[in-house]
Amino acid sequence: MQPDVKRAFVFGGTGTVGSAILRELARRSVHATFTYHRSEGKAKMLATELGHTAVHVDLADAAATTALLDAQPVTDVVIHAAGVSGGLALPEIDVATWQHAMAVNVQSAFLACRWVAARARRCDVVLVGGLDRAQSLPLPPHFAASQGALSALAMAVAHEVGPHDIRVNVVALGPLEGGISRGLTARRRKDYETFSALRRPGTPDEAAKVITWLALENSFIQGKVIAVNGGI
Ligand SMILES: NC(=O)c1ccc[n+]([C@@H]2O[C@H](COP(=O)([O-])OP(=O)(O)OC[C@H]3O[C@@H](n4cnc5c(N)ncnc54)[C@H](OP(=O)(O)O)[C@@H]3O)[C@@H](O)[C@H]2O)c1
Repeated sequence: MQPDVKRAFVFGGTGTVGSAILRELARRSVHATFTYHRSEGKAKMLATELGHTAVHVDLADAAATTALLDAQPVTDVVIHAAGVSGGLALPEIDVATWQHAMAVNVQSAFLACRWVAARARRCDVVLVGGLDRAQSLPLPPHFAASQGALSALAMAVAHEVGPHDIRVNVVALGPLEGGISRGLTARRRKDYETFSALRRPGTPDEAAKVITWLALENSFIQGKVIAVNGGI
Protein backbone atom coordinates (compact mmCIF):
# COMPACT_ATOMS: atom_id res chain seq x y z
CA MET A 1 0.00 0.00 0.00
CA GLN A 2 1.17 3.55 -0.68
CA PRO A 3 2.46 5.19 2.52
CA ASP A 4 -0.02 6.79 4.92
CA VAL A 5 -3.22 5.98 3.04
CA LYS A 6 -5.91 6.61 5.62
CA ARG A 7 -8.96 8.21 4.04
CA ALA A 8 -10.99 7.51 0.93
CA PHE A 9 -13.96 9.24 -0.64
CA VAL A 10 -16.23 6.88 -2.60
CA PHE A 11 -18.99 8.03 -4.94
CA GLY A 12 -21.81 5.50 -5.11
CA GLY A 13 -20.92 3.44 -2.04
CA THR A 14 -24.41 1.97 -1.97
CA GLY A 15 -24.06 0.42 -5.43
CA THR A 16 -23.23 -3.18 -6.17
CA VAL A 17 -19.63 -2.28 -7.03
CA GLY A 18 -19.41 0.55 -4.50
CA SER A 19 -20.42 -1.58 -1.52
CA ALA A 20 -17.85 -4.24 -2.47
CA ILE A 21 -15.25 -1.45 -2.60
CA LEU A 22 -16.32 -0.24 0.86
CA ARG A 23 -15.86 -3.76 2.25
CA GLU A 24 -12.41 -4.07 0.67
CA LEU A 25 -11.36 -0.67 2.06
CA ALA A 26 -12.58 -1.60 5.54
CA ARG A 27 -10.67 -4.89 5.32
CA ARG A 28 -7.56 -2.82 4.60
CA SER A 29 -8.25 -0.35 7.46
CA VAL A 30 -8.95 2.62 5.18
CA HIS A 31 -11.83 4.81 6.35
CA ALA A 32 -14.25 5.88 3.62
CA THR A 33 -16.76 8.65 3.35
CA PHE A 34 -19.24 7.47 0.74
CA THR A 35 -22.19 8.94 -1.10
CA TYR A 36 -25.67 7.55 -1.49
CA HIS A 37 -28.74 8.89 -3.22
CA ARG A 38 -31.87 6.71 -2.93
CA SER A 39 -30.54 3.79 -0.87
CA GLU A 40 -30.63 5.39 2.56
CA GLY A 41 -31.26 2.12 4.43
CA LYS A 42 -28.36 0.38 2.73
CA ALA A 43 -26.12 3.40 3.38
CA LYS A 44 -26.89 3.31 7.10
CA MET A 45 -26.31 -0.44 7.22
CA LEU A 46 -22.92 -0.15 5.46
CA ALA A 47 -21.83 2.74 7.68
CA THR A 48 -22.72 0.81 10.82
CA GLU A 49 -21.25 -2.49 9.66
CA LEU A 50 -18.00 -1.12 8.24
CA GLY A 51 -17.38 2.02 10.31
CA HIS A 52 -17.50 4.27 7.26
CA THR A 53 -19.36 7.61 6.94
CA ALA A 54 -22.40 7.96 4.65
CA VAL A 55 -23.32 11.30 3.05
CA HIS A 56 -26.37 12.03 0.92
CA VAL A 57 -26.10 13.81 -2.43
CA ASP A 58 -27.79 13.91 -5.80
CA LEU A 59 -24.82 13.76 -8.16
CA ALA A 60 -26.96 15.24 -10.92
CA ASP A 61 -26.87 18.47 -8.88
CA ALA A 62 -23.50 20.13 -9.57
CA ALA A 63 -23.86 22.77 -6.86
CA ALA A 64 -24.72 20.21 -4.18
CA THR A 65 -21.89 17.93 -5.28
CA THR A 66 -19.38 20.78 -5.22
CA ALA A 67 -20.55 21.93 -1.78
CA LEU A 68 -20.27 18.39 -0.43
CA LEU A 69 -16.73 17.99 -1.76
CA ASP A 70 -15.62 21.39 -0.48
CA ALA A 71 -16.76 20.36 3.02
CA GLN A 72 -14.55 17.25 3.03
CA PRO A 73 -11.17 16.98 4.71
CA VAL A 74 -8.14 16.02 2.63
CA THR A 75 -8.39 12.51 1.28
CA ASP A 76 -5.78 10.08 -0.04
CA VAL A 77 -8.06 8.22 -2.43
CA VAL A 78 -11.13 9.10 -4.51
CA ILE A 79 -13.14 6.33 -6.16
CA HIS A 80 -16.04 7.19 -8.44
CA ALA A 81 -18.38 4.19 -8.68
CA ALA A 82 -21.74 5.93 -9.11
CA GLY A 83 -23.60 5.54 -12.34
CA VAL A 84 -26.91 5.23 -14.17
CA SER A 85 -27.69 3.41 -17.38
CA GLY A 86 -31.08 2.11 -18.56
CA GLY A 87 -31.43 -0.22 -21.51
CA LEU A 88 -32.63 2.37 -24.02
CA ALA A 89 -32.10 2.53 -27.78
CA LEU A 90 -31.38 5.83 -29.55
CA PRO A 91 -34.99 6.77 -30.46
CA GLU A 92 -36.05 6.37 -26.81
CA ILE A 93 -33.37 8.65 -25.32
CA ASP A 94 -34.72 12.12 -24.72
CA VAL A 95 -32.55 15.10 -23.84
CA ALA A 96 -33.39 14.91 -20.14
CA THR A 97 -32.26 11.26 -20.00
CA TRP A 98 -29.05 12.14 -21.86
CA GLN A 99 -28.32 15.06 -19.54
CA HIS A 100 -29.02 13.02 -16.42
CA ALA A 101 -26.60 10.25 -17.48
CA MET A 102 -23.95 12.82 -18.33
CA ALA A 103 -24.42 14.60 -15.00
CA VAL A 104 -24.31 11.52 -12.77
CA ASN A 105 -21.72 9.54 -14.73
CA VAL A 106 -19.36 12.24 -16.01
CA GLN A 107 -20.01 15.69 -14.55
CA SER A 108 -19.59 14.43 -10.99
CA ALA A 109 -16.35 12.69 -11.99
CA PHE A 110 -15.13 15.98 -13.48
CA LEU A 111 -16.05 17.79 -10.23
CA ALA A 112 -14.14 15.16 -8.25
CA CYS A 113 -11.05 15.58 -10.43
CA ARG A 114 -11.22 19.36 -10.13
CA TRP A 115 -11.55 19.10 -6.36
CA VAL A 116 -8.53 16.80 -6.10
CA ALA A 117 -6.49 19.01 -8.44
CA ALA A 118 -7.24 22.12 -6.38
CA ARG A 119 -5.74 20.47 -3.31
CA ALA A 120 -2.52 19.67 -5.18
CA ARG A 121 -1.36 16.86 -2.88
CA ARG A 122 -0.79 13.16 -3.42
CA CYS A 123 -4.03 11.35 -4.23
CA ASP A 124 -5.20 8.40 -6.30
CA VAL A 125 -8.40 8.81 -8.29
CA VAL A 126 -10.11 5.77 -9.80
CA LEU A 127 -13.10 6.30 -12.09
CA VAL A 128 -15.18 3.15 -12.54
CA GLY A 129 -16.64 2.77 -15.99
CA GLY A 130 -17.84 0.20 -18.44
CA LEU A 131 -15.98 0.68 -21.70
CA ASP A 132 -12.33 0.41 -22.71
CA ARG A 133 -12.92 0.85 -26.47
CA ALA A 134 -10.84 -2.22 -27.27
CA GLN A 135 -14.10 -3.87 -28.35
CA SER A 136 -17.15 -2.75 -30.25
CA LEU A 137 -20.19 -3.34 -28.05
CA PRO A 138 -23.95 -2.78 -28.40
CA LEU A 139 -24.50 -0.43 -25.41
CA PRO A 140 -27.21 2.18 -24.71
CA PRO A 141 -25.78 5.27 -26.51
CA HIS A 142 -26.16 7.75 -23.63
CA PHE A 143 -24.42 5.32 -21.26
CA ALA A 144 -21.69 4.51 -23.80
CA ALA A 145 -21.01 8.19 -24.45
CA SER A 146 -20.69 8.87 -20.73
CA GLN A 147 -18.29 5.96 -20.30
CA GLY A 148 -16.19 7.06 -23.26
CA ALA A 149 -15.96 10.52 -21.72
CA LEU A 150 -14.47 9.08 -18.52
CA SER A 151 -11.43 7.67 -20.31
CA ALA A 152 -10.77 10.95 -22.15
CA LEU A 153 -11.25 12.88 -18.91
CA ALA A 154 -8.72 10.68 -17.09
CA MET A 155 -6.20 10.96 -19.93
CA ALA A 156 -6.31 14.76 -20.02
CA VAL A 157 -6.50 15.38 -16.27
CA ALA A 158 -3.62 12.96 -15.64
CA HIS A 159 -1.24 15.32 -17.45
CA GLU A 160 -2.36 18.33 -15.41
CA VAL A 161 -2.22 16.69 -12.00
CA GLY A 162 0.68 14.26 -12.44
CA PRO A 163 3.30 16.76 -11.19
CA HIS A 164 1.43 16.88 -7.85
CA ASP A 165 1.74 13.08 -7.45
CA ILE A 166 -1.94 12.64 -8.29
CA ARG A 167 -2.91 9.65 -10.43
CA VAL A 168 -6.20 9.38 -12.33
CA ASN A 169 -7.18 6.10 -13.97
CA VAL A 170 -10.28 4.29 -15.17
CA VAL A 171 -11.32 0.71 -14.43
CA ALA A 172 -13.59 -0.47 -17.26
CA LEU A 173 -15.74 -3.32 -16.04
CA GLY A 174 -17.46 -5.97 -18.08
CA PRO A 175 -20.82 -7.37 -16.99
CA LEU A 176 -20.96 -8.43 -13.36
CA GLU A 177 -23.48 -10.42 -11.38
CA GLY A 178 -25.99 -7.66 -10.54
CA GLY A 179 -25.69 -3.91 -10.44
CA ILE A 180 -26.03 -1.78 -13.52
CA SER A 181 -25.98 -4.91 -15.74
CA ARG A 182 -29.37 -5.95 -14.38
CA GLY A 183 -30.86 -4.02 -17.30
CA LEU A 184 -29.33 -6.42 -19.84
CA THR A 185 -31.71 -8.71 -21.67
CA ALA A 186 -31.18 -12.46 -21.20
CA ARG A 187 -30.02 -12.67 -24.79
CA ARG A 188 -27.45 -9.90 -24.40
CA ARG A 189 -26.16 -11.48 -21.20
CA LYS A 190 -25.77 -14.78 -23.04
CA ASP A 191 -23.85 -12.98 -25.82
CA TYR A 192 -21.45 -11.50 -23.29
CA GLU A 193 -20.86 -14.89 -21.72
CA THR A 194 -20.29 -16.53 -25.10
CA PHE A 195 -17.71 -13.94 -26.15
CA SER A 196 -15.99 -13.68 -22.77
CA ALA A 197 -12.81 -15.74 -22.59
CA LEU A 198 -13.79 -16.78 -19.06
CA ARG A 199 -17.39 -17.56 -20.16
CA ARG A 200 -18.98 -15.94 -17.11
CA PRO A 201 -19.86 -12.56 -15.59
CA GLY A 202 -17.55 -11.14 -12.95
CA THR A 203 -18.40 -10.72 -9.30
CA PRO A 204 -18.50 -7.35 -7.51
CA ASP A 205 -15.68 -8.61 -5.27
CA GLU A 206 -13.45 -9.32 -8.28
CA ALA A 207 -14.11 -5.79 -9.54
CA ALA A 208 -13.51 -4.24 -6.12
CA LYS A 209 -10.16 -5.99 -5.68
CA VAL A 210 -8.73 -4.42 -8.86
CA ILE A 211 -10.25 -1.01 -8.15
CA THR A 212 -8.89 -1.00 -4.61
CA TRP A 213 -5.49 -2.19 -5.78
CA LEU A 214 -5.34 0.70 -8.24
CA ALA A 215 -6.43 3.14 -5.53
CA LEU A 216 -4.06 1.92 -2.82
CA GLU A 217 -1.06 0.28 -4.49
CA ASN A 218 -0.51 1.88 -7.88
CA SER A 219 2.34 4.32 -8.24
CA PHE A 220 3.10 4.51 -12.00
CA ILE A 221 -0.08 3.77 -14.00
CA GLN A 222 -1.39 7.17 -15.05
CA GLY A 223 -4.29 8.30 -17.24
CA LYS A 224 -5.05 4.76 -18.40
CA VAL A 225 -8.05 2.48 -18.75
CA ILE A 226 -7.68 -0.92 -17.09
CA ALA A 227 -10.14 -3.47 -18.48
CA VAL A 228 -11.60 -5.94 -15.98
CA ASN A 229 -14.03 -7.92 -18.10
CA GLY A 230 -13.12 -11.60 -18.20
CA GLY A 231 -11.52 -11.26 -21.61
CA ILE A 232 -14.27 -9.76 -23.78
N1 LIG B 1 -22.42 -3.99 -12.48
C1 LIG B 1 -21.95 -4.17 -13.70
O1 LIG B 1 -22.17 -5.19 -14.34
C2 LIG B 1 -21.12 -3.09 -14.36
C3 LIG B 1 -20.65 -3.33 -15.65
C4 LIG B 1 -19.93 -2.35 -16.29
C5 LIG B 1 -19.66 -1.15 -15.65
N2 LIG B 1 -20.12 -0.94 -14.39
C6 LIG B 1 -19.84 0.38 -13.78
O2 LIG B 1 -19.69 0.30 -12.38
C7 LIG B 1 -20.20 1.50 -11.78
C8 LIG B 1 -21.14 1.10 -10.66
O3 LIG B 1 -22.15 0.28 -11.16
P1 LIG B 1 -23.02 -0.68 -10.21
O4 LIG B 1 -23.23 -1.93 -10.93
O5 LIG B 1 -22.46 -0.69 -8.85
O6 LIG B 1 -24.41 0.15 -10.23
P2 LIG B 1 -25.59 0.14 -9.18
O7 LIG B 1 -25.57 -1.08 -8.33
O8 LIG B 1 -26.82 0.43 -9.96
O9 LIG B 1 -25.25 1.39 -8.23
C9 LIG B 1 -25.29 2.69 -8.74
C10 LIG B 1 -24.75 3.65 -7.70
O10 LIG B 1 -24.85 4.99 -8.23
C11 LIG B 1 -25.57 5.80 -7.29
N3 LIG B 1 -26.36 6.81 -7.98
C12 LIG B 1 -27.18 6.63 -9.04
N4 LIG B 1 -27.77 7.81 -9.34
C13 LIG B 1 -27.29 8.72 -8.46
C14 LIG B 1 -27.52 10.11 -8.24
N5 LIG B 1 -28.37 10.83 -9.01
N6 LIG B 1 -26.85 10.72 -7.24
C15 LIG B 1 -26.01 10.02 -6.45
N7 LIG B 1 -25.75 8.72 -6.60
C16 LIG B 1 -26.40 8.08 -7.59
C17 LIG B 1 -26.49 4.83 -6.55
O11 LIG B 1 -26.88 5.39 -5.32
P3 LIG B 1 -28.26 4.95 -4.57
O12 LIG B 1 -28.39 3.45 -4.73
O13 LIG B 1 -28.04 5.35 -3.15
O14 LIG B 1 -29.38 5.69 -5.23
C18 LIG B 1 -25.54 3.63 -6.39
O15 LIG B 1 -24.67 3.88 -5.31
C19 LIG B 1 -20.87 2.29 -12.90
O16 LIG B 1 -20.02 3.33 -13.31
C20 LIG B 1 -21.02 1.30 -14.01
O17 LIG B 1 -20.92 1.90 -15.29
C21 LIG B 1 -20.84 -1.87 -13.74
